Amino acid sequence: MPQPLVIAIDGPAGAGKSTLGALLASRLGYLYFDTGVMYRALTLAALQSGLDLALPAAVEDLARQIVIEVTSSSVDDGRPYTVCVDGHDVTWAIRSPEVERGVSITARYPGVRREMIRQQQAIGHRGRVVMVGRDIGTVVMPDAPLKIYLEANLDERARRRAQECPQQHDPRPLDEVRAAMALRDAMDAHVLRPATDALILKNDGLSPEAEVDWILNYIERNR
Ligand code: DC
Repeated sequence: MPQPLVIAIDGPAGAGKSTLGALLASRLGYLYFDTGVMYRALTLAALQSGLDLALPAAVEDLARQIVIEVTSSSVDDGRPYTVCVDGHDVTWAIRSPEVERGVSITARYPGVRREMIRQQQAIGHRGRVVMVGRDIGTVVMPDAPLKIYLEANLDERARRRAQECPQQHDPRPLDEVRAAMALRDAMDAHVLRPATDALILKNDGLSPEAEVDWILNYIERNR
């Protein structure tokens, strides 16, 4: 295949999508766009505004009002990118347990999804982008020439997610992370399915570098 201008990477929480996406984007010189941060940023904004997350109308209104920006990293503190809501840096705040719990609720609201998807498509259509999420290959960018669906078992995913939180940003016990992740799998199930033309990659025990090499070889072989 010619070098795909949009690469979609989907799969459950902790499957290694972010690590793979960032590495692949950097090898290709593409933008790395982790779409989950948009749902997280909206959830944080809703919590900070004192909204009841169980009431869709107010959260959907907020989704249409706030400006979420994802830009390349602006601070040298280990962040892969900077996320701002209405100009305020929320890069670390969107990783809090409160947001983690709330995001599966807000991400189910049709009005929220419509707005997030609209903004994601605007970025995706510019091309030269690796987009990471749950529904990129099925809904956001169904014409993406290369779609990858990552799978890994729950224990492995929980272990990776627990290691992702650096010490200063709220470390949590593995059991707690595992339980939260199992709950989120169930709540994300409404969007979580591979596109019919996605490559399914089971990555237990596979290093991100090996995965990237495999994908680049696949593109080369199918040129
Ligand atoms: O990938 P993540 O854990 O940062 O995602 C946060 C939440 O957003 C998760 O509950 C699933 C949801 N999400 C989604 O519904 N669609 C996407 N494209 C990305 C994330």
